[in-house]
Amino acid sequence: MELKKDWIKDLVIYQVYPRSFQDSNGDGIGDIPGIICRLDHLSDLGINALWLSPVYRSPNDDNGYDISGYQEIMEEFGTMEDWDQLCQECHQRGIKVIMDLVVNHSSDEHPWFIESKSSRDNEKSDYYIWRDPKNGKEPNNWASVFGGSAWEYVPERGQYYYHLFSKKQPDLNWANPKLREEIFSMMEWWVKKGVDGFRVDAISYLDKPQDFPDSPEPPQPDGYSFSACLVNGRPGTHGYIRDMNRRIFSPYNVLTVGEVAAPDTEELARYVATQREEFDMAIPFVAPVVEISTWSPKKLRQDIAADYAALKDDGWWARFFSNHDKPRQVSLYGNDQEYWEVSAKMLAMLLHFLPGTPFVYQGEEIGMTNMRFPTIEEYNDPDAKNTYRQQLLIGATPEEALHQAQMISRDNARTPMQWNGTENAGFTAGKPWLGINPNYRQINVESQKGDPHSIYHCYKALIALRKESRALSRGDLEILPVPTDTLFALKRSYQGEVLLSFHNFSAEPAEVPEALLPQSGQVLLSSYDRQGGYQGGSLRPYESVIFRL
Ligand code: NOJ
Repeated sequence: MELKKDWIKDLVIYQVYPRSFQDSNGDGIGDIPGIICRLDHLSDLGINALWLSPVYRSPNDDNGYDISGYQEIMEEFGTMEDWDQLCQECHQRGIKVIMDLVVNHSSDEHPWFIESKSSRDNEKSDYYIWRDPKNGKEPNNWASVFGGSAWEYVPERGQYYYHLFSKKQPDLNWANPKLREEIFSMMEWWVKKGVDGFRVDAISYLDKPQDFPDSPEPPQPDGYSFSACLVNGRPGTHGYIRDMNRRIFSPYNVLTVGEVAAPDTEELARYVATQREEFDMAIPFVAPVVEISTWSPKKLRQDIAADYAALKDDGWWARFFSNHDKPRQVSLYGNDQEYWEVSAKMLAMLLHFLPGTPFVYQGEEIGMTNMRFPTIEEYNDPDAKNTYRQQLLIGATPEEALHQAQMISRDNARTPMQWNGTENAGFTAGKPWLGINPNYRQINVESQKGDPHSIYHCYKALIALRKESRALSRGDLEILPVPTDTLFALKRSYQGEVLLSFHNFSAEPAEVPEALLPQSGQVLLSSYDRQGGYQGGSLRPYESVIFRL
C-alpha cells in the first residue's frame, strides 16, 4: 500500500510524560530542560519522533490535559525559550516533535471560559456548551468520565455547562465556527514554530447531539449514565476532523495521530482510511477497566487480524501496548515477577514485529512495572479516585475498593522515570511529585545500558532492525494458524525479504507445530538471549524469537 506520507512508516515514536521524565531544578516535577538533557537517551535508542504529552499552561487538574493557555508553556515545565530549544535540539538529532493537542475541552481557567461563564451575552458566550436546567436539575443524565454528572451549574448564567471529563475541563463548542477558527489558527501557530505532528486528544467526541437526549444506558453506581451517542464518532465529528485536515494537516504535511473511541474496525477505518483525509493513524481509546477485564492473548490476536484486514489496503496503524493512560505493559500482559525480563522482551518483539508505527512509552524500554500505592490518598489520578468512590458506592470494602483502583490506576505508568540506582532514581534532587517505584535500584536505565542482555538492548536491537528491514516497516503480515491461543506465529514479507516470529504469551512452555519450524534461516533476536538464545523446538515461558528466512 502506498501512503502519501511514506515517511511515517520509518518512525519509532517515543512518548514522554513530562511531569515524570526528568526534573532539572529540584522541584520534584519533570520539566523541559530535563527532557533536553535526556535527548541522548532517545538518540541512543534509535528514536526518531518524540510525542510530548501536554506542556501548555495548565492548572493541572488532569496533568496538563486541561489547558488554560494554548500558546504558553506550563510554568513548572519551563519557558517558551526552553520549548524552542527542545524543538531545535530534537531536529538536530533527526527527531520529529509531536505535540499533544487537547481541543475537545479546555481548562475552566482558560480566559475563554472565564469570559464565557460571566454572562449569557459576551463575546465568548458560545465557546462552550451551555444549557438551561431541566426541571431545576441537570439538562440530562449523562455521566462524566471522572465520575458524577457531566454538567456543572454556573449561577452567573443560571445555566449548566457540559464536561465529558472533570468539571475543570469544560467541552469546547465545535458547532461555533469562530471557536473552530481560533483552534485552527492556534494549530497553525505551532506548526509554524516547527512542530512536525499532533497527537490529537479525545477527538471522537467533538460533535454532540444538540438536543442532549437522556442516555438509556444502565447508570453508574453514582446514578449517571455514559452516553452511547458518543461511542461512535458522529458524522459531524468526522466533518470537523476533515476541516482540520484541509486547513492544517494536509497543507503543512504534518503527522497526525487521533485518539479515538472506535468500538469496531469500521469506525477505526473512518478515522484513518487515507481517502477520507482525517488522520494518519489512530490510538483507539478503550476504558482501561474494560480492557483489563476483557483482555486475553486470543482477543489480542483477533484484534490484530481485524485491524490489519481493515486498514491494509488503505490506512496505517499506531502500534502500542503502553501509554500514560494504562497500567504498565509488563505487569498487565506479561509477568512482572519470575518472567519479568523475558516477558518484557517478548512484548517488545511482538509489537515491533507488527505492521504500523511503533510507540514506546517512557520506561517501557527498561521494563518498568506497576506500582501499588498503599492508600488512596497517595494517588493523583482522578480515574483511580473515581473507581475507588464508585466501588464504595456498590458496597465494596475500602480494601477492595483500593485494590480495584490499584489495578486500573493510570498512576501505574506515571511514576517517575528510573534513570539510575541513586536516591530518587536520578529523576530529581527534590521530593518527587509522585512516589517512585522502589524497584528502581534493580530496574533502571544506567544498569541496563551496561548490560548487553537487558530489555533496553532488546529495544535498541528491535528499533535498529526495523530501520534496516523493509519487511518490518512495509511488509505484509500473515498470522499463521497455531493450535494454542497463547502462541503467536507471524510472518512479514516484502519483495522477497521474509521474517518469521514466535511469541509465547504464557508461563507454560509452548509447542510449535512442526510445519512452522524453519528448516533454515537465521535467528535475529531472542527473548532468551541471556540464557543462550533459542534452542529449537518448543518455546520456553514467554519466549519470543525472530528469524530471517
Ligand atoms: C485522554 C488523555 O490521554 C487522558 O490522559 C486525559 O485524561 C483525557 N483524554 C482527557 O483529556
